[in-house]
Amino acid sequence: MAGEQKLIAGNWKMNGTSAGATAFAAQLTAKLAGNAVKGELLVCPPAMLIGTLVAGFAGSAVAVGGQDCHAKAKGAHTGDIAAVQLKDAGCSHVIVGHSERRTDHGETDAQVKAKAEAALAAGLVPVVCIGETAAQRQAGETLAIVEGQLRGSLPADATAASVVVAYEPVWAIGSGAVPTEAEIAEVHGHLRAVLTSLGAEKAAIRLLYGGSVKGSNAGAILAVANVDGVLVGGASLEADEFFAIAASCP
Ligand code: PGA
Repeated sequence: MAGEQKLIAGNWKMNGTSAGATAFAAQLTAKLAGNAVKGELLVCPPAMLIGTLVAGFAGSAVAVGGQDCHAKAKGAHTGDIAAVQLKDAGCSHVIVGHSERRTDHGETDAQVKAKAEAALAAGLVPVVCIGETAAQRQAGETLAIVEGQLRGSLPADATAASVVVAYEPVWAIGSGAVPTEAEIAEVHGHLRAVLTSLGAEKAAIRLLYGGSVKGSNAGAILAVANVDGVLVGGASLEADEFFAIAASCP
């Protein structure tokens, strides 16, 4: 939450193998043993690699999370994973509403909110993702879009301790294009004002920035007002690069 440690979260998306995950955990824990970092670390691999990373990070401070969960606790939903199952596998967090899920699977704010509620019920911290498309930014709709997504996706009982929000402009994801620090500050400032208007319990919900974060730009992004961490895709796949981002924490 604001004022506390930054959260450095990795999202492997549909990448990685068991051998690669084992090597990643060994490399990252070795780096962390020699160089303490100020941030809190989280890695969200594909579901079948959760057990590998939980074992690989045992005894370290690196947390493991899922990339999605179903809104229901169990039942006839072939191919889906329940939040309670992620918790059982050793996860502490789960990403919900990533723009790739919203696009590939047509997930709506209401569905994302239901997934975030399921995560809370299972004792997981949902990382609720929001962000505008390039067309929406060009049309000057960014603040209205992200505010609508935030209001529509956030569980009613979300608090700074239980929920994280990630602002990820769709056009910055995997593209190498990053908003200016002023643009990030504008969106995060607006989201902070919306959270504050929703009450004291929500005011300090952590706001991550995501979209083409890498070792070379993480320090500047983490220094922007109201940026409480980063959600990292491509650059989280290599232990050295992910460590470099974590080492940028002020
Ligand atoms: P990227 O992805 O860092 O590869 O741009 C970020 C994300 O989608 O979470």
